[in-house]
Amino acid sequence: MSKDTVTITDNRTGKTYELPITNDTINAIDLRQIKVNPDDFGMLSYDPAFKNTASTESTITYIDGDKGILRYRGYPIEQLAEDSNYLEVAYLILNGELPTETAYAEWEYEILHHTFVHENIKRFMQHFRYDAHPMGMFIATVAAMSTFYPECRNIADPHNREIQIMRLIAKVPTVAAFSYRHIRGLPYVYPDNDLSYAGNFLNMLDKMTEVNYKPNPVLERALDVLFILHADHEQNCGTAAMRVIGSSQADPYTAMAGAAAALFGPLHGGANEKVLRMLLEIGDVKNVPAFMEGVKNRERLLMGFGHRVYKNYDPRAKIIKRIADEVFEVKGRNPLLDVALELERIALEDDFFVERNLYPNVDFYSGIIYQAMGFPISMFPVLFAIPRTVGWLAQWQEMLADPAQKIARPRQVYLGYDERDFVPMANR
Ligand code: ACO
Repeated sequence: MSKDTVTITDNRTGKTYELPITNDTINAIDLRQIKVNPDDFGMLSYDPAFKNTASTESTITYIDGDKGILRYRGYPIEQLAEDSNYLEVAYLILNGELPTETAYAEWEYEILHHTFVHENIKRFMQHFRYDAHPMGMFIATVAAMSTFYPECRNIADPHNREIQIMRLIAKVPTVAAFSYRHIRGLPYVYPDNDLSYAGNFLNMLDKMTEVNYKPNPVLERALDVLFILHADHEQNCGTAAMRVIGSSQADPYTAMAGAAAALFGPLHGGANEKVLRMLLEIGDVKNVPAFMEGVKNRERLLMGFGHRVYKNYDPRAKIIKRIADEVFEVKGRNPLLDVALELERIALEDDFFVERNLYPNVDFYSGIIYQAMGFPISMFPVLFAIPRTVGWLAQWQEMLADPAQKIARPRQVYLGYDERDFVPMANR
């Protein structure tokens, strides 16, 4: 008869231990009973980079990396990208269910009417250098926002949390757009609350002298779909940072600045920027084979390929490839697409990539669309951070509500010196 336990024999002592299995997992703390002597600390599991450690239970996002499946609250990403919009998906991710018509109308109204930021936030941003990286401005400004809403530190109050969540989702496009106008040397544009979430963002980026800015509907929808695709991705590096910082009961702006900082790295959300720079460097399809030799010789990474969880095609990359065509019809085809397609063709056939299950991830094609839409390359990580705000905040809420969670504090395996006596400088 099968039993939901695992039996471990410690060959140092010959003792056996029976550990319960719940949801295909053992609880790492159960390992602590494994000791050679009664005064031993007990066994730890060693897992640098959390390759095989679940840090939480969650009901938000499901990924099957082998099959290339991504679902938010059970709904397949393909259906959400086709039939929903970003604010509806944001509501779903935060609340667990799709909104009714009335709930959606209220939610949309609240978000679209909290888009303005304090004038001092504008002034704060104006003091960055003319060539500051927009993601650096975004991270610093999100952190600074906690000083404008000091009540945000009262994280135990659910109503207060809701207000901060709504503020953050509503205001991040404004902060992002200001960072863009800043590097362009253009006056910042205030939000237009009559436009959609994505439409207003385009307005704040592009508006010049027109009285009523009208976003191009194809670009507005493409951006909205890109926002849906980036809304959450379970326990990735940025989300783990959000949870770790939040576990110390820091306010959500401070925790989110940390999450955005983690996202900025080139192995994570900064990869879209690196992909574009890589494609520009390759420049032409004829240079692809030589570049790929360099990758296989370990001289560099093929940016936008590989994923800790996906060992199959990232479903988001498939959807992005499709909407790229719609954007190209409006803005013209991005010539770098040919270089990207050739890199992908070789990678999907070549043993080096096949053996390692390296497929395009979300960042491989997103940069090509962003560039076709006219975004400078340095804006790409910011375009990732805007929609990921909802995922970070939903995961933060889930962490706070979970009685199993405590302040995050990993253990270490100490391999340094045993105690030794201090040596005066003259004797060294
Ligand atoms: N190019 C070349 N080789 C690669 C790549 C790549 N992009 N990614 C992984 N590999 C190789 C590794 O060298 C390793 O080979 P080895 O086993 O012979 O040593 C093997 O594939 C496994 O890779 P790991 O680095 O162990 O995988 P890990 O899960 O730690 O890393 C990561 C995942 C960081 C995404 C990695 O694939 C990578 O650096 N990719 C490029 C950056 C990128 O696109 N990041 C965006 C990820 S999506 C996101 O965060 C939004």
